[in-house]
Amino acid sequence: MFTSDTLKGKSILVTGGGSGLGLVMAKAFAEKGANVAICGRTEERLQKALEELQKINPECAYHVVDVRDYDAVGEMIERLNERYGVLNGLVNNAAGNFYAFSEDLSPNGFKAVVDIVLHGTFNCSQHFGKQLITKKKPGTILNIVTTYTQTGSAFVLPSACAKAGVYAMTNTLAYEWATYNIRVNAIAPGPFPTEGAWKRLMPSPEFEKIYLQRHPLHRYGKPEELANLAVFMMSDMSEYLTGECVNIDGGERLQAGQFNFVAQMMPREQLKALFEKMKPRKK
Ligand code: HXC
Repeated sequence: MFTSDTLKGKSILVTGGGSGLGLVMAKAFAEKGANVAICGRTEERLQKALEELQKINPECAYHVVDVRDYDAVGEMIERLNERYGVLNGLVNNAAGNFYAFSEDLSPNGFKAVVDIVLHGTFNCSQHFGKQLITKKKPGTILNIVTTYTQTGSAFVLPSACAKAGVYAMTNTLAYEWATYNIRVNAIAPGPFPTEGAWKRLMPSPEFEKIYLQRHPLHRYGKPEELANLAVFMMSDMSEYLTGECVNIDGGERLQAGQFNFVAQMMPREQLKALFEKMKPRKK
């Protein structure tokens, strides 16, 4: 479906692109012909990531920036515009998250996550949108949210609140900026293990075992499965797609279905026999 030209002519900034899923997407974009810039707080990590990216496309670049810093984000976007002529893609991927009982959260703990996720996405999106509007150029924003933006989730209150805000921002800007040909979409990934997220969210093999038992496909997502979706959503193949949030979680979010628990109760064959026994007998 994709070729090395699928993203030709695109210059894409991936926030938090120095590691994890950000780097996975950045590499996929570069392989499909895009100029890719990554940003993050840790220069050493960015340098290492850039080495990998430049093997694919020497035009790739990095910027050390904290997305919470509005002015610094503005300067970075200006520099990237100078470098690439126009920056026409933005992936708001930078995030922060940790488990905590909500009653124990410090105000600063709540603020740290909300600042990175919600304010960071605003800072990048507004600077990105402004320069496109001034230049009268089309562009695409892709926000990485979570499946719990729509349901909330215990023990990750700041992330749930912030991602729900980003979800609202996606729909709001999609409508408001459609007139400028700026598309705004979101991806809600389910479990795609990365070192950063998993050390915060999967503290032991026992956690993982229970987690995967409950998952309808009993497996994690593969990085390339997420990358393929992101490439499609950043490409001109999806030009009519805006204001959409695509879940990619192997059906995990559907566990709320009232009788879904039945699937976990006993082996399939035993269940079948049970349902058979419950059938009304024909007279
Ligand atoms: C309680 C915590 C905490 C924890 C930090 N804090 N970790 N509180 N439990 N585990 C509190 C601190 O005590 C402090 O409050 C406040 O948060 C700020 O902490 P700092 O370390 O000073 O902040 P900062 O360096 O800005 O770090 C931000 C961070 C950190 C979010 C706290 O974890 C981070 O940088 N994370 C980035 C990477 C990341 O989280 N990746 C996972 C994303 S996964 P006080 O009151 O003491 O000052 C994701 C999707 C999940 O988002 C979906 C999976 C299925």
